[in-house]
Amino acid sequence: MKALVAFILLVQLPIHKAVPAAPPAPLGCDDPESEAAAEVAVDYINSHSHHGYKFTLNTIDNIRVLPQGPNKEIIFLELDLLETTCHILSPTPLANCTVRSFTDHAVEGDCDVKLQKVNGQLSVLASKCHSHADSSEDILQLCPDCPLLITLNDTEVLATVTESLNVYNGKSTGAYLKLLEIGRAKMQYHPAHVVFVEFAVAATNCSAAEANVEACHLLPDDQSDFGFCTATKVIRPSQDLQVNCQLYGHQPGVTYSPPGQATSGLVPGVVQGFTNHNLRLSHNNPLASESFSSEFSASMLPAKSVARRAVAGVAQHDKVPRPVGFVPPPPCPGKIRHFKI
Ligand SMILES: *[C@@H]1O[C@H](CO)[C@@H](O)[C@H](O)[C@H]1NC(C)=O
Ligand SMILES: *[C@@H]1O[C@H](CO)[C@@H](O)[C@H](O)[C@H]1NC(C)=O
Ligand SMILES: *[C@@H]1O[C@H](CO)[C@@H](O)[C@H](O)[C@H]1NC(C)=O
Repeated sequence: MKALVAFILLVQLPIHKAVPAAPPAPLGCDDPESEAAAEVAVDYINSHSHHGYKFTLNTIDNIRVLPQGPNKEIIFLELDLLETTCHILSPTPLANCTVRSFTDHAVEGDCDVKLQKVNGQLSVLASKCHSHADSSEDILQLCPDCPLLITLNDTEVLATVTESLNVYNGKSTGAYLKLLEIGRAKMQYHPAHVVFVEFAVAATNCSAAEANVEACHLLPDDQSDFGFCTATKVIRPSQDLQVNCQLYGHQPGVTYSPPGQATSGLVPGVVQGFTNHNLRLSHNNPLASESFSSEFSASMLPAKSVARRAVAGVAQHDKVPRPVGFVPPPPCPGKIRHFKI
C-alpha cells in the first residue's frame, strides 16, 4: 500500500510541475494602472469629440487586459462618464471643469475604449460611446421646480438663442459673433417660465458695430477665436433677458467642423429632436467593444484565466481550488467619483 502511494506521488509529481504558473494578478477597476489607462482614454475621447461638452470620468465599470507579448498588452475599458460645463472648444483643462450637478440635469456618457500598452506607453486604438440625459422623472422627484433639458431645436430655444446673440452683438464693441452650435437648453415652467440656453460662438472678421454683417465671415483657422455664451430669458411673469459671452482667444490647432447641414434654421439635422449632443457622433468604432462580446471572450481568453473572467464579470465563481491566502481580485465596477444617475 505504501509503495502504491509513493508510486502515485512519483507519477503525479511531474504532472504538478507541468501546471502553468498562475496568471499575473488581474487589474481591479480602482488600481492605479486602470486609472492611468482611463485618464488616457478620457483625454482621447475629449480631444476627438467635435460637439457639445467635455466629459469627465465617473466610474471605471470594467477592465480587461490581454497580454500580447513581453512588452505589449491590449486593454479594454468600459467607462462611465459625466458631462462637464466646459464646451469642447474651451481651453480650460478638464481637471478645472465642473461636473454638471444632478439638479442641472446631468448627462451621462458610456464608452468602450480599446487601448494598447507598448513598453509602458498607452495609446487609444478605438472608442465607442453614447451619451444620454438623466430622466426627467429622476430630477423632478428630488426637485419638482428644477428646469429640465429640452430639445435643441425647440422653437423657444431657437428664438432665445437668436435674440440673445442679436442683443449681445448690438451692445458689443468687439467682434461680431456668429453661432456655431447650441450646446444645451433647459426650460422651467414654475414658478416662472424661463428658458436657459448655452451656445458656442466664433468671432468674425467684422466688428459688431459694422452695419453690413451679412458679409462677415468666420476668421480663418490660423486666427480663429471661439467663445461661449449663456443666456437666461424670462418669459413669465415679466420679460427679461440676460446674456453673457466670453471669447476664449485664438488657440493654435483647435478647429471646429460643423456637424452637417442645418435643416431647420439653426440646428443641424443630427441633433434635432435631442436634448444633448451624442458622443456617438464622434466615437463609433465597433472594435472598441470587441472584448465584451461573448464570441471574443470564448475564443480569446485562455481557459485558465479564471481571475480575469471574474474581473470582467463573466465568471464570478469557479471550482478551481485556491491556494491558502488567496486574495480575491479587486472589484469592478470601481468607485463612483461624482454621483450615480
Ligand atoms: C486649474 O486649477 C489649478 C488648481 O486649482 C489652478 O492652479 C489653475 O490656474 C487652473 N487653471 C485654469 C486654466 O483655470
Ligand atoms: C470679411 O471676409 C469676407 C470674405 O473674405 C470679405 O468679403 C469681407 O469684406 C470681410 N469683411 C471685413 C470687414 O473685413
Ligand atoms: C425637432 O426635430 C424633431 C426631429 O426631427 C422633429 O420631430 C420636431 O418637430 C422638431 N421640433 C421643432 C420645434 O422644429
